[in-house]
Amino acid sequence: MKIGNLEIYGNVFLAPMAGITDTPFRRLVQDFGVSAVWTEMLSAAAIAGDRGTFRTLDLEGHVVPTFFQISGKDPGIMAEAANRIQDMGAAAIDVNMGCPARKIVGRGEGAALMKDVSLAGRIIAAIRKVLSIPLTAKIRSGWDETSYNAAEMAKVLELEGADALIIHPRSRSHRHSGPPALSVIQEVKQSVGIPVVGNGGILEVQDAVAMVGQTCCDGVMIGRGALGRPWLPGQILVRFGLSSNGSSRFTTFFDVIREHLGMQVQWWGTLGAVLRMRKHLAWYSRGFAGGAEFRKRVFRIEEPEAVLDCVEEFFGKVVIS
Ligand SMILES: Cc1cc2nc3c(=O)[nH]c(=O)nc-3n(C[C@H](O)[C@H](O)[C@H](O)COP(=O)(O)O)c2cc1C
Repeated sequence: MKIGNLEIYGNVFLAPMAGITDTPFRRLVQDFGVSAVWTEMLSAAAIAGDRGTFRTLDLEGHVVPTFFQISGKDPGIMAEAANRIQDMGAAAIDVNMGCPARKIVGRGEGAALMKDVSLAGRIIAAIRKVLSIPLTAKIRSGWDETSYNAAEMAKVLELEGADALIIHPRSRSHRHSGPPALSVIQEVKQSVGIPVVGNGGILEVQDAVAMVGQTCCDGVMIGRGALGRPWLPGQILVRFGLSSNGSSRFTTFFDVIREHLGMQVQWWGTLGAVLRMRKHLAWYSRGFAGGAEFRKRVFRIEEPEAVLDCVEEFFGKVVIS
């Protein structure tokens, strides 16, 4: 697949997820195969103002393109931030036009841009002027059920210079729940000539096949389906008839978790890693008999080695699937 001047192997992407898609998680997903990964959303104002350390932008060990996602509403500041991170190794810049969090939309950013198509267009135009790498935007179906305007938005963003669009077909009022409206993905795809990536509700390989089949979208983006199953994007690539671009040696849950925790320790230090790892352990153990008991036990532990002992005892040699 090609986005702007960027050649990408395949069409299966890891979604931006704040607090989750940090450097270790993005690396782990790449190990199993994926076409490109997204950073979590970063404040354009903070980047432009040089505030913060942005460790999550570290691309060590990354072998596929990384899209850096920024949020904001001031076209000048967004362009300044994009210009800065272009030099940090970003393969492309993605603009967040879908975050539903009150704090973000209250500032007129994220999904609030779905209510101001003209401003959204000016943001893309301003960034386009300073960027030589591809530029994308991640949009929703609209602000609420009475204002679905994704197709109108898509046309404006294409006109102003977006190279591809990611559409999460739920309105801001639906946040992350309810069935995604595949008809909206199809409508967006029919409205523009640039690539359209569908997102939302892909929990199994078959969901990705159905999304592409029903909407003719050019690619799929996986969010929560990869939580506790970082191998899902790689499985979808293979189902799409591509050989996996990952080379994972890991076959059991224990192998995967040991690698994941090891990278977390390297990035966030011992305690930071253990605390960050708890939510992942909850996802890895989802659906297992005795999972609740395991979580109660492991969440009390603060030493990585003791966490691993507990993980080994619980998962044994269970193979990933
Ligand atoms: C915990 C969490 C954090 C998220 N953070 C971001 C973010 O930083 N930027 C963004 O565009 N979307 C974010 N999203 C939305 C996802 O990228 C995705 O659009 C959404 O979860 C729907 O896809 P899914 O059903 O495959 O999870 C987040 C979602 C979750 C669950």
